[in-house]
Amino acid sequence: MKNTSKMPRVNGKISIAPSILSADLCQLGQQVACVEKAGADWLHIDIMDGHFVPNLSFGPSVVRSLKQHTLLPLDVHLMVEHPRAFVEPFAKAGADLLTVHIEAADPVADTLAYIKSFGLQTGVSVKPDTDPSTLAPLLPLVDLVLVMSVYPGFGGQSFLPTAPAQIQQVRQQINASGRNIWLEVDGGINAQTAKLASQAGADALVAGNAIFSSADPATALNQIRQAATDI
Ligand code: DX5
Ligand code: ZN
Repeated sequence: MKNTSKMPRVNGKISIAPSILSADLCQLGQQVACVEKAGADWLHIDIMDGHFVPNLSFGPSVVRSLKQHTLLPLDVHLMVEHPRAFVEPFAKAGADLLTVHIEAADPVADTLAYIKSFGLQTGVSVKPDTDPSTLAPLLPLVDLVLVMSVYPGFGGQSFLPTAPAQIQQVRQQINASGRNIWLEVDGGINAQTAKLASQAGADALVAGNAIFSSADPATALNQIRQAATDI
């Protein structure tokens, strides 16, 4: 099936999305250039509001600056209670894809349609304890499903042992939908867990700590891609 979207997808290739949550923010431009040169496919930007998750991170101004600095598609993950209010600011700042949580307070289908109205790609995310079957009515509306393999809010956590079963279930639902939807997995991804996520059906992987806390981010990124490809 042909994917006509802006986000690059090559059959058989796993997309890698470094998460800047673990970057050294004093060196952000340089670190983004490093992962772009190393072959990153997207840049993952975690937005936290201190309500939906117990942490704060970035706002639209960071996305606006990154847009001037990189050609990588900007994959913006909204971990916020009321995502609708943030759609326009992040769209105007240069996000390419906006992912909202199914557990957020705003009606999800309405928010996804609103994201589409700005010409952006759409994603829906599930936390580890959410039944993936709740995604079924939303699959016609999304370009990507993001499965959280940690409880959202912080980088550097360990991949949950329950994640592969949830990923498999989402993979079956996507296949049954007949739509070309990315299955992205986020949290605790390194060269070992990338293999588990990929075997379970992921085709896009977010990695923060494993890439940006490495002395050699380019090698770390390529090891993750290699591990996820050799399954
Ligand atoms: C967690 C965020 C993740 C985080 C992943 O709430 O959604 O994107 O940056 O970081 P690592 O790869 O360190 O688990
Ligand atoms: Zn994320």
